[in-house]
Amino acid sequence: MKILVTGGLGFIGSHVVVELLERDYEVIVIDNLSNSSLEVLEGIHAITGKKPEFEKLDLRDKSDVQDFFKRHAAITGVIHFAASKAVGESVENPLLYYENNLNTLVYLLQELQDLPQAHFIFSSSCTVYGQAEQLPITETAPVQPAASPYGNTKQIGEEIIQDVCNIKPTLQAIALRYFNPIGAHHSSLIGELPLGTPQNLVPYITQTAIGLREQLSVYGDDYPTRDGTAIRDYIHVMDLATAHVVALERLLNHKAATNFETFNIGTGTGSTVLEVVHAFEKATGESLNYKIVARREGDVTAAYAHTAQANDVLGWKAQYSLEESLASAWEWEKKVRSKE
Ligand code: UD1
Repeated sequence: MKILVTGGLGFIGSHVVVELLERDYEVIVIDNLSNSSLEVLEGIHAITGKKPEFEKLDLRDKSDVQDFFKRHAAITGVIHFAASKAVGESVENPLLYYENNLNTLVYLLQELQDLPQAHFIFSSSCTVYGQAEQLPITETAPVQPAASPYGNTKQIGEEIIQDVCNIKPTLQAIALRYFNPIGAHHSSLIGELPLGTPQNLVPYITQTAIGLREQLSVYGDDYPTRDGTAIRDYIHVMDLATAHVVALERLLNHKAATNFETFNIGTGTGSTVLEVVHAFEKATGESLNYKIVARREGDVTAAYAHTAQANDVLGWKAQYSLEESLASAWEWEKKVRSKE
């Protein structure tokens, strides 16, 4: 079973590659190294004792994509991570996001649609729900107008896949709508490496605790929540990795109810920003310098997953607690900085 992982050296992709190798899948990784490095391959090797096949390839180059599939006819499944994910950057440069996240998807699907059978896992996001009216958020909650070009690429991406699935029963696809992925492999050999100043909460916390940033800004304490700060569903990246393998196996074992399915991937528990700060302090023994500032534009009040579909239909459930996830993020941060 040869599985292609696009963006397989990125944060989530690398953890999925580890899970696949540990379950004895043959893995081929493509990545354009725009937001990752070849060192990740060494981390994967150190954890698993195996090296996935690797090609530096940019999916925006259609002829390279065509050529790749000509050379790799035996691919049985594709897990597609390669995409850009910075919300602010997408507002500044929307066409970069439409090219990076949508052209690439089209080129991949053009190859997959003519195979006798293709299994495809798409990396989507809870961002498609915007501020949902009901919490926890079920998969049937309406998709809201996107707040950013990045969010729009996830919505349009799902629609593109749905449209192709409608006419190609040989294409079997699952979109996983992640809530907030955090943490790192327990070995601290792979993890999240944000470029520049982190935009996401947990890397900002760990960089503050280690002294790279002076203070965490908590964006808003006037939300209608238990302590006034916004609520999210933080999920350990290893739980997320397992979800991808379970979803892939659902397709490989012909268990899918329709040829395009969508699942929320979260823990089902919402935590406020201050709860995350305090859980971090408890899990690590570090005290965190933070201050409350104004809300960040585009943030929703609360988002956490209804997990019944994932638990009962997909057969997957998150295992790690928030504290375990934060402790692993901290161990990773310390490991990365000790090498600098
Ligand atoms: C963000 C993206 C989302 C994307 C996800 C990927 C936005 C609006 N949304 O989700 O589309 O799929 O990342 O991981 O950017 N916070 C602080 N201080 C900080 C950073 C964050 O208080 O320095 C707060 C935020 O206001 C939010 C929570 O922490 O309430 C989580 O923020 P973040 O980690 O950026 O994730 P999202 O905004 O939920």
